[in-house]
Amino acid sequence: MKILIAYATKAGSTAEVAAEIGRVVESKGGCEVDVHPVDKLKGVDGYDAAIIGSAIRVGKWLPEAMKFVEKHRDALGQIPVALFTVCLTLSEDTEENRREVAAYLDPVCEVVQPVDIGLFAGLMDYSKLSFLLRLMVKKMGSPEGDFRDWEAIRAWAGQVRARLM
Ligand SMILES: Cc1cc2nc3c(=O)[nH]c(=O)nc-3n(C[C@H](O)[C@H](O)[C@H](O)COP(=O)(O)O)c2cc1C
Repeated sequence: MKILIAYATKAGSTAEVAAEIGRVVESKGGCEVDVHPVDKLKGVDGYDAAIIGSAIRVGKWLPEAMKFVEKHRDALGQIPVALFTVCLTLSEDTEENRREVAAYLDPVCEVVQPVDIGLFAGLMDYSKLSFLLRLMVKKMGSPEGDFRDWEAIRAWAGQVRARLM
């Protein structure tokens, strides 16, 4: 069985989450896993299942991730697909914040029906942002730091592997 992990990132934290999901899924055996950025992929041909994830910017998946699911919606409709998202709202893991982050995925779920969804806190490093973006995120009240919960990410990867296989 071949599983594709496709992701979109701006500053790299989602790429690291995708790589860790890939490591966990593959380490459990019984499948071959490829991890690629969406913009390097021509499609999902040859894969039996897919896990697709994106960072959030201003309440939305990155445009290249959204374009990827829209462009390949028919092929994605033929295989089990799981989605994940990485964002800063979940730096405070409350029920209200989970609802808000789950809603970020509504437009994606209109295109593909996922078998599972992973919602993860990400990383904010002001020094990696342009002056204008730094002003913007400070105004939004985004805290700085690495909020990724690797245990939660690994637990989800194990659970989603079972659903996809
Ligand atoms: C300009 C900008 C806008 C963002 N907007 C949101 C947002 O609306 N909601 C949210 O939860 N996180 C938001 N974030 C936080 C990112 O989703 C988070 O930092 C994520 O880990 C970035 O992933 P990346 O390192 O893969 O690019 C924003 C970050 C930036 C830089």
